[in-house]
Amino acid sequence: MGRAGGRTRPRQSERARAKGPSQRGPVVPDTSPSRYIVKVDRATGAELPDEIEPGELLVHAHRDHHPVEIAAQYLASRLIEVTGNEALVKRGLRAVDRLGGRLARTAAEISGDPADERRVKQLLGVSARDFAFRFRETSHLTEKEVKARIRSLQKDARSRLAALGRRPRLRILLTGATGFLGKEILVQAASHPHVDEVVAVVRPETIRDRRTKRVLGVLSPRQRGARLLKRVGIRGKDARKFRFVKGDIEQPGFAISSTELTRLKRSLTHVVHCAASVSFDDTYESSFRANVLGCRNALAFSAAIQAARGSRFVAHVAIETSYIHGRRKRSIAQEDALVFPRHFYNNYYELTKAMASIETDRALVQDGLRVTQLLPSIVIGHSRTGNNRGDTKVVNAPINAFGRAKEAMDSLGEEWQDRARGWLVGLIATTFPADRSAELNLVPVDRVAAGILASLVSPEAIGVRIHLATDNRIRSEEVVRITREELGVNVRMADPTLTRNLTLPVVKAVLESMGEARLANVLEKLGTIFGVYGEWGQPIHDVGNDVRILGLPIRRPDTGAAFRMLCRHNRYVQAYGQVRDPDEIARREHLWEEAIDEVEFESGRQVPSMRAAEFRQLMADRIELRSFRAR
Ligand SMILES: NC(=O)c1ccc[n+]([C@@H]2O[C@H](COP(=O)([O-])OP(=O)(O)OC[C@H]3O[C@@H](n4cnc5c(N)ncnc54)[C@H](OP(=O)(O)O)[C@@H]3O)[C@@H](O)[C@H]2O)c1
Repeated sequence: MGRAGGRTRPRQSERARAKGPSQRGPVVPDTSPSRYIVKVDRATGAELPDEIEPGELLVHAHRDHHPVEIAAQYLASRLIEVTGNEALVKRGLRAVDRLGGRLARTAAEISGDPADERRVKQLLGVSARDFAFRFRETSHLTEKEVKARIRSLQKDARSRLAALGRRPRLRILLTGATGFLGKEILVQAASHPHVDEVVAVVRPETIRDRRTKRVLGVLSPRQRGARLLKRVGIRGKDARKFRFVKGDIEQPGFAISSTELTRLKRSLTHVVHCAASVSFDDTYESSFRANVLGCRNALAFSAAIQAARGSRFVAHVAIETSYIHGRRKRSIAQEDALVFPRHFYNNYYELTKAMASIETDRALVQDGLRVTQLLPSIVIGHSRTGNNRGDTKVVNAPINAFGRAKEAMDSLGEEWQDRARGWLVGLIATTFPADRSAELNLVPVDRVAAGILASLVSPEAIGVRIHLATDNRIRSEEVVRITREELGVNVRMADPTLTRNLTLPVVKAVLESMGEARLANVLEKLGTIFGVYGEWGQPIHDVGNDVRILGLPIRRPDTGAAFRMLCRHNRYVQAYGQVRDPDEIARREHLWEEAIDEVEFESGRQVPSMRAAEFRQLMADRIELRSFRAR
């Protein structure tokens, strides 16, 4: 997935190769999924000795292999559209599968050859898996013993917090401060009365020319930090709360200098581990390094701080994702239970974050680390303004693609080849592969950061998984309606199964034949990566602990309104991802927020309640929207 900015960072393996044998870093870790997952015989439940390939844990490995199965998926989507009842169709699909199984068994009985059962199943497209996966137990303790252990850790945290006084002065080590969520944490921490210091672990950044890729320079963590604070508007006394130290989450102890470490051992009250690789198309190895190895390093770091003499450590906060529950067709993903998803994982990001969560459970139960697990759903820009500080990931990617496709179609050339190419690209780039009833769980970044900061003073959150998600999920038909209204793009819904198996491969082949292989890949990526989240039967992420334990407001942000502001922000402020300079983004977002404040104050209405045209006019009265300068 595209990232903002023109910088690149070699993967660890590439860095190791570049260094040469004598300077190689630590030994390459064991990345086998078997540390977390076991393959079991479906009939007996017995563990199978097979080596687990990461690929077999993904949705793609188990579908689209048989025309009957593809047709069944397609028909299921259509039936859901007509009946509006996902549960009924799900039951129907299971019944058909069972019927196919019975037919296969009967055929085998008649022929007298047991192998015929599998053959007939294959012929009929009946899922013939005789194995399943489950997560390994994280401890041999009984449930009662685990609960007692957690109660004791919560008690320890309570007394540690109490020891900090009635107005605790918190000193936090934060990873991922330069990311989308990290920046919002910085902003909220700056004005937080109890946060005394934030030590951000940051790696150096290589700046390259966007076109030529020539290295223009390297920014040290301190330089990155100074720029970051300026961009997010933290200055003066507030800025003195922050320190930026060099570190890499993929290295043991984050490779933080020993002097710094000694200092941190005495001062830190919390570690918030937020850094990760949030990329839906990364390889397994790369996701594993950032998400699992990074998590292990973070847990070990906190364990050392917790055990240090004179330590003031209260707790570790692990930022995970509610998508560690993977695909589980329309069933409730409970906050406290992590079960291997019946319908697998959508990508290695989700899978490795689930593995990281298991590591965190182990650190809690086996090593006695005081740790809270926070699981945001899909994070979008600020609930009121849509501001996202230049983020172009996740939901932003398809929205920006829709907007850019429209712009491209509006400026088609005269040549028929240009027009044909533009029409084809526009057609596919404005297609939203989604079932009408699919629901997305979007949560604004300000709610997530508020949850993270609240967890620091909530000892009851230790040993608990907390979904930072919404109870007002948005349906894909609403996504399409709002996108049309706000972007003026005629986004069309398309059946995800058909898009995956027919439309995308055909369009890809045509574009390749026109010499547009790169474009073909981009479109295919957008369709296949994001299509999975638009299918019917998305998991329902249970919520409640955010209010009960963290004390967040029970009225969660209005998702429709927040999504509308995301569209407006991406259209005017980001120019659909084309404005990439972080300083320019910061300038625009500041102006945008001021103008919204003014409009709301003068009209006495909240801007999401305004129609697209009225909002545009009111903003255009204050900002020249092309140059984005105040009038
Ligand atoms: N965005 C979402 O929709 C979403 C949803 C649910 C959960 N989450 C979770 O929220 C957290 C933050 O996500 P985000 O959207 O803010 O991600 P992001 O914008 O991609 O930022 C990732 C951050 O991690 C840092 N990082 C990655 N590898 C590192 C390494 N080896 N050493 C040091 N720092 C490293 C990056 O630093 P550089 O600037 O140096 O690259 C960056 O600061 C993640 O744990 C993610 O799983 C995100």
